[in-house]
Amino acid sequence: MRTEELKKLDRQHVIYSWRSQGGVDPIMIDRADGIYMYDTDGRRFIDFCAGLLCVNIGHGNQHVLQAMRQQMEKLTYVGPAFGTEVKARLAAMISEVTPGDLDYIFFTNAGAEAVENAIKSARLYTGRHKIYSAWRSYHGATNGAMTISGDPRRWAVEPGMPGAVKFFGPYCYHCPLGYESQETCGLACLEQLKTQVMLDNPKSIAAIIMEPIVGTNGIIVPPKAFMQGVRQLCDENGILFISDEVMAGWGRSGYWFGIQHHGVVPDIITAAKGLTSGYVPLGMMAWNRKLWDYFQEHPFVGGLTYTGHALGCAAGIANIEVYRQHNLIEKSAHDGEYLLGKLVELRDRHPSVGDVRAQGLWACIELTSNKETRAPLAGFYDSIRNVSAELNRRLLAGGLYLFAKWDLMFISPPLIITREQIDESVAIIDRALEYTDSLIA
Ligand SMILES: Cc1ncc(COP(=O)(O)O)c(C=O)c1O
Repeated sequence: MRTEELKKLDRQHVIYSWRSQGGVDPIMIDRADGIYMYDTDGRRFIDFCAGLLCVNIGHGNQHVLQAMRQQMEKLTYVGPAFGTEVKARLAAMISEVTPGDLDYIFFTNAGAEAVENAIKSARLYTGRHKIYSAWRSYHGATNGAMTISGDPRRWAVEPGMPGAVKFFGPYCYHCPLGYESQETCGLACLEQLKTQVMLDNPKSIAAIIMEPIVGTNGIIVPPKAFMQGVRQLCDENGILFISDEVMAGWGRSGYWFGIQHHGVVPDIITAAKGLTSGYVPLGMMAWNRKLWDYFQEHPFVGGLTYTGHALGCAAGIANIEVYRQHNLIEKSAHDGEYLLGKLVELRDRHPSVGDVRAQGLWACIELTSNKETRAPLAGFYDSIRNVSAELNRRLLAGGLYLFAKWDLMFISPPLIITREQIDESVAIIDRALEYTDSLIA
């Protein structure tokens, strides 16, 4: 089918995420290989976003495809009450890389379901109902996960799930408490959270859930001491600490899991995306020993038709083998420093770039209209103007796909990217930023 006919068919039937359907005009992707995607007209794009931050090992990896083919010939799916070799082996492989005693795995279809099951586990285990989460956060699009998300996607489900409580996490570039620097703030945000918990009755709080590095709300890296303080606060009050690693996990931030940056071991981990690098949808929740022991005698009231899907588990095993064979986690850490160096050069050259942040091959460019005051250019939820539409248009015209919204440009290439390919991609961004610079001039 020609591109126009395909597009017509698509626009007659397909519903797209997060937007009014009228303006949808998708690029029709035909195939992908390594860090590249090709559209139906043969145009090539660098996938500088690894799909939606998931294709960590790159597109078309033959080791994973071969493992999937073999599994499909043998068994693609069996009911969740049965055990399979791939389910047991993948759970064991995951337990080798999760921190501490997070060795017990429940498989889901994707990230939001992992979060739902974490909420449920925490409530069942503690007998409490409140779930604390940060204002600048995203935890998924199902009802509970969306209610605990701080970002505007939550608004559509309000009032949502009862018991969801928000707090201000650290965001040092725009400190919500008005402090200029981490050196002088005395971790005021941690003190504020402690006070909030005290006033709110700690014995009503089942869990605090956090992204160890905030993802779609700006690649915000919390100070280590904040995360360690949250761990202590949880311990002192019988609250569970959930690390939502759906985006931060699987090498994206230069460690297997983002929480390892902070030297903290949570009680529950949720993950998805890089678990299979998107070859098959698969998510997971990991419990620590405390939860595992508790649920020996108490029912875990959770289930999914496709939990532990054999094809997904086979893809997961092969995917972890690829991470190991090619040292992709270490590579993410090293090349992330290289990428950050390139982004710092952009920041120093472009008046519209206020801040650049990176952990591993996971970075963000934050735009500003004034470097001194750090005033936004687009504003939260495009409250001043929409910048990302034209920015995205220019990036795509230059042959680069990344995800940009409001004042934020997200960078998360497949971890296999070479330094030459990073240079090529940053050069395309460099040219596109002439547009945002022109808005200030
Ligand atoms: C931190 C975090 N949690 C949960 C989710 C939801 O995952 P999924 O879209 O796979 O349901 C996402 C998705 O981007 C995420 O970034």
